[in-house]
Amino acid sequence: MSDHELRVSKIRDGTVLDHIRAGQALNVLAILGIDGTGGETVSVGMNVPSDRMGRKDIVKVEGRELNQDEVDVLSLIAPEATINIVREYDVVEKQYLDRPERVVGVLSCPNHDCITNADEPVDTEFEVLDDGVRCAYCETILREDLAAHIGVA
Ligand code: CTP
Ligand code: ZN
Repeated sequence: MSDHELRVSKIRDGTVLDHIRAGQALNVLAILGIDGTGGETVSVGMNVPSDRMGRKDIVKVEGRELNQDEVDVLSLIAPEATINIVREYDVVEKQYLDRPERVVGVLSCPNHDCITNADEPVDTEFEVLDDGVRCAYCETILREDLAAHIGVA
């Protein structure tokens, strides 16, 4: 794409999630808790041509930077994404994700009988599998909709 046809505008301050696997943009928005009602300005590109990936998705969130929990869960569903922190129009930081081996204290276990859902001072802990995550305490496997399980119950 030539310089004079920018598909999604540059942002002044915020976060650009680039090189998201095509088709994952809506899951990324779910992880960030963005459904349009929060008032943030968000631009989404889907199936945008990319030299490196053929097609990619891209999400730009203005006025917001991500916290580590969000980055951890993002790395599960979009490990190839690049996180660009933009300030005053410049990319001031570029973060490459790494698929973690385990995520602690980020996802809640869907099993009501799990010790992490009892009134005990236990952090949730999930081992990362190829196609999901497994609770380290009760072995419940979570494959879909990780976004709905963010946050400790
Ligand atoms: N970007 C933006 N607004 C800015 C600056 C950058 O939306 N003010 C976007 C760019 O459009 C690009 C991403 O942030 O999608 C990363 O910008 P940059 O590092 O300048 O681009 P590249 O060098 O192409 O990045 P990479 O090497 O990660 O592909
Ligand atoms: Zn459990």
